Amino acid sequence: MTVKVSQGRGRQRHVYSVWAVYRLLVLTAVCSAAETGPSVSECDVSADSRFDCFPEKVVSKEECEARGCCYSPPGHNEHIGQPWCYFPPSYPGYKMINLTQTDKGYSATLQRSSKTFMPCDVFTLQLEVMFETESRLHFTIKDPTKNRYEVPIPTPRVSGKASATLYDVQFSYDPFGLLIRRKANGRVLLNTTVAPLIFADQFLQISTSLPSSYLYGLGEHLTSLNLDLKWKRLTFWNRDLRPASDSNLYGSHPFYLSMEKDGLSHGVFLLNSNAMDVILQDAPALTWRTIGGILDFYIFLGPEPKTVIRQYQDVVGFPFMPPYWSLGFHLCRWGYSTANITQQVVKNMKNGNFPLDVQWNDIDYMDAMRDFTYDRNQFGDLPKMVKDFHQQGIKYVMIVDPAISNTGAAGSYPPYDEGLKRGVFITNENGKPLVGKVWPGLTVFPDFTNPETFSWWYDMVKNFHDQVPFDGMWIDMNEPSNFVQGSLDGCPDNNLENPPYVPGVVGGSLRSTTICASSHQNLSSHYNLHNLYGLSEAVATHYALVKILKKRPFIISRSTFSSHGHYAGHWTGDVVSNWEQLYYSVPAILMFNMFGVPMVGADICGFGGNTTEELCVRWSQLGAFYPFMRNHNGRDSAPQEPYVFSEVAQTAIRTALQIRYSLLPYLYTLFHKAHSAGETVARALFIEFPSDPNTWTIDRQFLWGEALLITPILEPGKTEINAYLPAGTWYNPKTGEGIESKGQWTVMPAALDSINLHIRGGYILPLQYPGMTTEETRNNWMILEVALTPEGVARGDLFWDDGESLSTFEKQDYTHVLFLAANSVLVNEIIRVNSQADGLALGMVVVHGVPIPPKKVLVNGVASEDFNYNIKMKRLDIQRLSLPVGQQFVIAWT
Ligand code: NOJ
Repeated sequence: MTVKVSQGRGRQRHVYSVWAVYRLLVLTAVCSAAETGPSVSECDVSADSRFDCFPEKVVSKEECEARGCCYSPPGHNEHIGQPWCYFPPSYPGYKMINLTQTDKGYSATLQRSSKTFMPCDVFTLQLEVMFETESRLHFTIKDPTKNRYEVPIPTPRVSGKASATLYDVQFSYDPFGLLIRRKANGRVLLNTTVAPLIFADQFLQISTSLPSSYLYGLGEHLTSLNLDLKWKRLTFWNRDLRPASDSNLYGSHPFYLSMEKDGLSHGVFLLNSNAMDVILQDAPALTWRTIGGILDFYIFLGPEPKTVIRQYQDVVGFPFMPPYWSLGFHLCRWGYSTANITQQVVKNMKNGNFPLDVQWNDIDYMDAMRDFTYDRNQFGDLPKMVKDFHQQGIKYVMIVDPAISNTGAAGSYPPYDEGLKRGVFITNENGKPLVGKVWPGLTVFPDFTNPETFSWWYDMVKNFHDQVPFDGMWIDMNEPSNFVQGSLDGCPDNNLENPPYVPGVVGGSLRSTTICASSHQNLSSHYNLHNLYGLSEAVATHYALVKILKKRPFIISRSTFSSHGHYAGHWTGDVVSNWEQLYYSVPAILMFNMFGVPMVGADICGFGGNTTEELCVRWSQLGAFYPFMRNHNGRDSAPQEPYVFSEVAQTAIRTALQIRYSLLPYLYTLFHKAHSAGETVARALFIEFPSDPNTWTIDRQFLWGEALLITPILEPGKTEINAYLPAGTWYNPKTGEGIESKGQWTVMPAALDSINLHIRGGYILPLQYPGMTTEETRNNWMILEVALTPEGVARGDLFWDDGESLSTFEKQDYTHVLFLAANSVLVNEIIRVNSQADGLALGMVVVHGVPIPPKKVLVNGVASEDFNYNIKMKRLDIQRLSLPVGQQFVIAWT
């Protein structure tokens, strides 16, 4: 491994950006001028390359220069967000000393000799650089004398140093900086010399250049897929908020993927859960600014976007394997106010011939909105209702909020009484449970970082499940949301409540819509743990459901943090029923797939406000391709169940549902690949076609896996759409038409009753005739849709198991079959087979791209008459087959 270490200033120069070279040249002249402000020439930094020296507020020239920084308020044409007060190149940083080789890489001491503008600088820091794998570099910067909070998620432990790496690390000594390059082409991926490193107790900041402006990730925010770098601040502090731009939302995933100029890519993950800002600027550059913890960075060298995403998941964990039923259609609304109404909804769905797998209830089912209770008047027969659903093959999921009502008479409400006894609640400065307010009125908040809370939560869930045999849990309000600011008694006045710098949180204060930052949890302060609240609840819920159901748990959570996908899924919260939010749901779903949370969807037809029929049809068509497909609606909004619309709309929605149900075997196989190999289910085009720059900004279309392109309609009144087809052959499964694309935009019809789908030449999709539930569908004939390349080849596969047992992949209790087509022959290859595949039979094969009419079709050597050929579409249909998928077959056409 070649690690270049620059020693003196002269030798460093070649690794620096122009900005930094300039900084070296003027260094001596400026140091002494810091008190009165840097010299004019030193402040001559191009606008895009300025890094904010006064992020707390808008400042005067005097205040700025008193910090030793440059002042230049932007003119009319400049961008909002561009700093008025920025660092001169000479701003003092850390000096690196004692760089030594270690078993894992390098270690060094970083020393600062002068104070920054933030209180409590940590003057001496420890740098550890770990060459963990060929493609993963890990480095931490900590206080060597004091244990600071570190994020408690499990990450891989590596004992030695990778013997060969895709990266090179270079160090700048004074000021300290890190440069990480891609060895293959020398490209600088990370360069932290562009602005000073600051490491104070409650203010940690590090900046880096970026190799291009194609940046993705850094959720959860309402953004396009390719992030806007024009002075954008993305704030991470989980919050209950209707998705709006420039706002911190429900979850935090401080991970980005960068597409480099030639289509190679890398990723960066800052494992830090404190309130944080990430500032993006056109330079292109990025600043991480967090108010606690340590700097704990992982760099993933890819080089393909797919491998970057897998490498990220190697650190945070691969996604859970969902139960098969959860891939079906879910229906919910806030306002199904009785069990009768809920049952009627299911009947209406059945009468309307709409597939349905999971019926949900919102907080309406609860007694006085308290967890683990049900309203004996309106939902008196809830247990029976759930059992009836089960008889119909329908599953049941209900909402549970973390906050526990604390106002009942002593002994009347076990979740509170027990919880209090067992000490499971977050406490305030007086050591008493912190009291806030949520749906049931006054509440306390479980601390899921306390092992006792895990067992208490299990007991509560188990007890409720003994009464109401639900199938999955919906965990909401877990940012945690609080209707009073901080607590009923306010919050104390201390440095956690009022840090010297508050990231750009909505409401301007950390306590806005949540609990006091300085409240106490078992592992640390809420200040440190806030962003992990939803994750920790998801982990506790996962643990409880595994133990209770002894089957795969299904959990959907509003709040998330990195590693969430290992335990649960996510829905994108209270989106409004409008076209703009319909569009934003696409980048949101694609990003969560990049974060390792493939089980994700938005509320179909929107949650807030009233939908229109057209919007709801288009949203259902898109929603049929959300990995998690649920129509959910707000309490005050107009009804939007599929059956409330006109016949025309109902037909369109029913068709979308039937298409989804027919694709379930393919979708399930994709989830298996996510679970076993860190792949994405809903996939951005750039991930699949990284060498085609046209795909890098596309977020109005997406793929399922490698093979199915989805082009939804995201605007009203459309009858056609201009869609991108990456280079290759694409077949429209509805018309059979094949298109040879060189990588081009193509206008397609977009009637209200259809959604544009294209199967990629070279792939085989396993499908089934759609039933009314996933269970019914699983027993139907299988269909193989074969999309040949011009060379006549295609491949695909099927993962199959009982759809619900725990760890079937890990225990090798599954069936895996490959399908291969070449030279006018389709065969299957059995990689593994178990009894679950008994009865699974192939009934039909559709082959797209057969150039000449076949005269004969042979099925396992026997001639079959049951085939048709469409000359215009070059499509061969072979029907009335009956071939066990778990046994070898050969189908030939000549
Ligand atoms: C907020 C959730 O985001 C929403 O989906 C739910 O309906 C309400 N809470 C009521 O529980």
